[in-house]
Amino acid sequence: MQRQEFKAVIDYHEKTKHHFDRYARSLGYMDWENQPNPFRFYEDTTVIPLPLLESDPRADYMDLYQRRGKTSLPFNQKNIAGFLELSLGLSAWKADGATRWSLRMNPSSGNLHPTEGYLIIPRMESIPGGVYHYNALTHALERRAHVSSACWQQVESHFGTKGFMIGISSIFWRESWKYGERAFRYCNHDAGHALAALSLSANLCGWKVTYLNALSDEAIERLLGLTKKGYPELEKEHPDCLCFVYPYQKELTSRRLPDEIISALDDLSFNGNPNQLSPEYINWEIIYKTAEFTRKPITDEHIYDYGRRPWSSVSSSQFSAAEIIRKRRSATSFDSNGSVTKAQLLSMLDKTIARNGCAPFDVELIQPQTHLFLFIHNVEDLLPGLYFFFRNDHDIAEIKQISKPEFVWRPIEDNFPFFLLKTGNCKRDAIMVSCHQEIAGYSAFSLGMITKFQTIIAKEPYRYRHLFWETGMIGQVFYLEAEAHGVRGTGIGCFFDDAVHDMLGFGDNQYQSLYHFTIGVPVDDPRLTTYPPYHHLKNF
Ligand SMILES: Cc1cc2nc3c(=O)[nH]c(=O)nc-3n(C[C@H](O)[C@H](O)[C@H](O)COP(=O)(O)O)c2cc1C
Repeated sequence: MQRQEFKAVIDYHEKTKHHFDRYARSLGYMDWENQPNPFRFYEDTTVIPLPLLESDPRADYMDLYQRRGKTSLPFNQKNIAGFLELSLGLSAWKADGATRWSLRMNPSSGNLHPTEGYLIIPRMESIPGGVYHYNALTHALERRAHVSSACWQQVESHFGTKGFMIGISSIFWRESWKYGERAFRYCNHDAGHALAALSLSANLCGWKVTYLNALSDEAIERLLGLTKKGYPELEKEHPDCLCFVYPYQKELTSRRLPDEIISALDDLSFNGNPNQLSPEYINWEIIYKTAEFTRKPITDEHIYDYGRRPWSSVSSSQFSAAEIIRKRRSATSFDSNGSVTKAQLLSMLDKTIARNGCAPFDVELIQPQTHLFLFIHNVEDLLPGLYFFFRNDHDIAEIKQISKPEFVWRPIEDNFPFFLLKTGNCKRDAIMVSCHQEIAGYSAFSLGMITKFQTIIAKEPYRYRHLFWETGMIGQVFYLEAEAHGVRGTGIGCFFDDAVHDMLGFGDNQYQSLYHFTIGVPVDDPRLTTYPPYHHLKNF
């Protein structure tokens, strides 16, 4: 069976590669009549409006990542509201003439936002314990089910600490409406961005988010009420992950949930009718099949040890942690003369390394499997050219061996796994491999995320999604790092997969490029007007 799943996943991946002469299958035009609503509402539920932050957490840039030295805030409505506002909440509205659209703290391919967030919380002040859907548009909780205090006590004694659960799910249709078959990849990138956004925002409250990595997707689906009736077939939500959020000083005693707690939560009666997102759909069947083949079974729980590598340099920013989160945007074009310094680049790369006690990679999703293939265009004190950054040590020899023999692999810094491969202007190549998008070449630098692929998926096919989540998490760190350093980034999901591998000399799928990113000095579009994120709430 595993073999069949593996083959199906590889098949999906191959079929959804973009090639110079053929893009992955999609509609090919924008079917505006059926554009999915980016907001899910559960109608006929009790709605609990959440307060907006009166003032942002007093946390510096490095407090995004570092856990130690923080005070853990109490778990109450106000603090959970702040945690959600700075992770899955709205960040702004944009308008171009009569057209308006909202943006969120977490980015999404095409701004389509397939990711939905759910809380499972104990009773807090006036909020009854329950399973809640987070509605980012109204910054409110929609109550789907009641959780008794007795049941919650079981949860707390199982984990050995107070806390609450947060889950995320994906609605594939939202992305496939525009991107067709490749959309499953983008949904999983977006899930990774959201997971990192949750971990980083929780850190500002002195809370740690840990992925309950033993749980099966089936259990998560049941716990979040996603199996209940009412979803139009192609608007169903697919379970991504469930995490426990708790004071960071505590040791979590488990990354699973015992059957009796799952059964107790599964017995809940769920309320609410999901709104319909589109009048009509196209069924991109391969997405739903691949989702089935990559469903996560129950597994052993993993406690990951990422080591305690010290930061390679002292980093500072003129912006606070919350300012950085709120400012995050995707650049739509760059000043082709704009640059970053070498020190800034190294500081950004350093933040992508997983470390114990540091958000976001200590959510315990996976051991780092993704490295960075960089196109350096305009970095002060660094020659333009191709570079490579390793996020773990054990792939170094293998990657060097399968790459082009002419690469020089010259180290750039002592004790920092960053290497020059080849000097030369690579703007045109970067633009060309990123689906001819200029943002990849007129930036200070861009990159492809190179992930150990075949062996990971052969062993555990569900890890296909996790590899995309990992790249989404790295993307989220780059987005925030760019803002912290006064520049701007953009995730790039559209690239010619095999052209990237050809540049590296890879002849097979041991490693694959799963996601691209670009960072530089942004040029804003003067035609757009910006409005505050929740100015519309007075109309609700
Ligand atoms: C997974 C992913 C892939 C993306 N791919 C592209 C891309 O190929 N080209 C592009 O211009 N923007 C891309 N973006 C940027 C999105 O369009 C952007 O996040 C979205 O419009 C929301 O805007 P915001 O990031 O400013 O909130 C991507 C974003 C994500 C998260």
